[in-house]
Amino acid sequence: MELSDVVRTAVTTRYFTEEPVTDSQLERAFDYARFAPQGGNRQPVRFVVVRDEAKRRQLAEWYLVPWKAYLSGAQSGEIGIGAEKAEKALRNADHMAENLHKVPVMVVACAHLDGVHPTDTELGRLSVVGGGSIYPAVQNFVLGCREAGLGAALTTLLCLFEPQVKELLGIPDEVITAAHIAVGHRSAPFPTKLDRLPLSEMVFTDSYGSATYA
Ligand SMILES: Cc1cc2nc3c(=O)[nH]c(=O)nc-3n(C[C@H](O)[C@H](O)[C@H](O)COP(=O)(O)O)c2cc1C
Repeated sequence: MELSDVVRTAVTTRYFTEEPVTDSQLERAFDYARFAPQGGNRQPVRFVVVRDEAKRRQLAEWYLVPWKAYLSGAQSGEIGIGAEKAEKALRNADHMAENLHKVPVMVVACAHLDGVHPTDTELGRLSVVGGGSIYPAVQNFVLGCREAGLGAALTTLLCLFEPQVKELLGIPDEVITAAHIAVGHRSAPFPTKLDRLPLSEMVFTDSYGSATYA
């Protein structure tokens, strides 16, 4: 596949079949993750591929807790999700949450905390730079899944259950969880067009708001 086709169609998959996914089907995606940049090239990211049915069922059960709280917040308007197509998006995400235990693979993206290099901790606002040493690898993995014809759903809600997830999977103390990626075969073809901002609203020249592209 061309890179442009991969990045333009790597949608969040929310409807999966139960068809198994093999380690060799995932190998190239993990290899792409390996090549992502990290601050100081410290390479803090690790992945745990969860296949065991009891463990996946437990992860799915925990996931429902923050998901249902998020869903009710979004439905009541308490959490603004800011999308016109919000209702459909919530319905699809709820379907995924309710059926997560059936998705054949859950990949837990972890990181050695001392290997991320946050440079924005003194600004008096939420620090985000540390995640920059983790999520490029996660996205490379997601793109690799897309190239392999596999659907993926990048989620972070389950990070709330980090202590429980770490115990379940034997993740060492100094390692944190950053994302949980459900991976499987899609029950429908990949879309050809995603709902994304146009460049005119996203890229500016010299002054914020001064659009580079029409
Ligand atoms: C950092 C991050 C965290 C996310 N966490 C969740 C999550 O916990 N649950 C979920 O259903 N989707 C999650 N998503 C998926 C987003 O909802 C999705 O990327 C976005 O709605 C665009 O949807 P699309 O891929 O269908 O176009 C997350 C995405 C990102 C980038």
